[in-house]
Amino acid sequence: MTPRVMLKAYAKINWGLELLSRRPDGYHEIRTVTHTVSLHDDLWLEPMRGGIDLRPRGRWAVPRSPDNICWRAARGFMDVFGEPSGLRLTIHKRIPVGAGLGGGSSDGVATLVGLARLTGLGTAAELRELAIGLGSDTALFLEGGAALCSGRGDVVSPLGCAREYDLVIAKPREGVPTPLAYSLMGAEDFSDGSDMDRLADALRRCAELGVIAQLMRNAFTQKVCSMFEGAQELLSMLRSADTVAAGMSGSGSAIFAVAPDAEHAQTVRDEVRAAGYWCTSVHTVDRGYHVVEEP
Ligand code: C5P
Repeated sequence: MTPRVMLKAYAKINWGLELLSRRPDGYHEIRTVTHTVSLHDDLWLEPMRGGIDLRPRGRWAVPRSPDNICWRAARGFMDVFGEPSGLRLTIHKRIPVGAGLGGGSSDGVATLVGLARLTGLGTAAELRELAIGLGSDTALFLEGGAALCSGRGDVVSPLGCAREYDLVIAKPREGVPTPLAYSLMGAEDFSDGSDMDRLADALRRCAELGVIAQLMRNAFTQKVCSMFEGAQELLSMLRSADTVAAGMSGSGSAIFAVAPDAEHAQTVRDEVRAAGYWCTSVHTVDRGYHVVEEP
């Protein structure tokens, strides 16, 4: 029988995000507090003879070509380690695309981890290097849980928060391409990162929701919401739904709200769905991926 690996690749939200400066390499220096959540894609990896056969499934369309981050992850791993000679990769997409939920990055990391399990090759440091080559917000999925991320997002300090928070995540019809969101930002949007340090401290202490809510801020919110009406509408809807707080994840367009408990999160989810938006209720998790099946 062909060996097979199956993994869950979790999404993330950003409790908050500050932009510090623009770097000479064109990226931005950021400070952000992230948390992985129970919403996940499913990936199946099977070795084959030569080539990469990508089979996307599910509601959200992703390319079957070398533009797909999983394709790049597989190519990178196979070029470095010479094994396997080919890969069939089936991805069931549940995490919306262009949402700031890190779905592509998580899938890319899960592909690397899956290949390491299939072949028995790749140290943690080697996988980290390959992951960082795929994008700015990949490394956090190797750690999972709550983390303070700095640099271009690739320097990850886990916060060791064991508490589960109940959240609602919603997305307007439009997605926001990350480069577009960054191109809207200027010096007037920069700050010193101290709010994120305080937010990280709060999560390290597994603080009460009220404390965390007070510290949530995202440098992208104002400009992205003024450009994408749906994001603004969802933010207002979630803020008035008796939640503890609501904010934007990453550079958008997803909006999330913190609920007092899971039941409340489900009630809000149903209301937002009734208004015609994609919406789900989740809880935070302490990992970025989960290997469900391996040889
Ligand atoms: O690294 P990633 O491919 O996710 O980044 C996509 C684009 O977002 C970059 O090409 C850059 O324009 C912008 N970006 C940035 N600063 C970051 C992360 C991303 O300017 N820290």
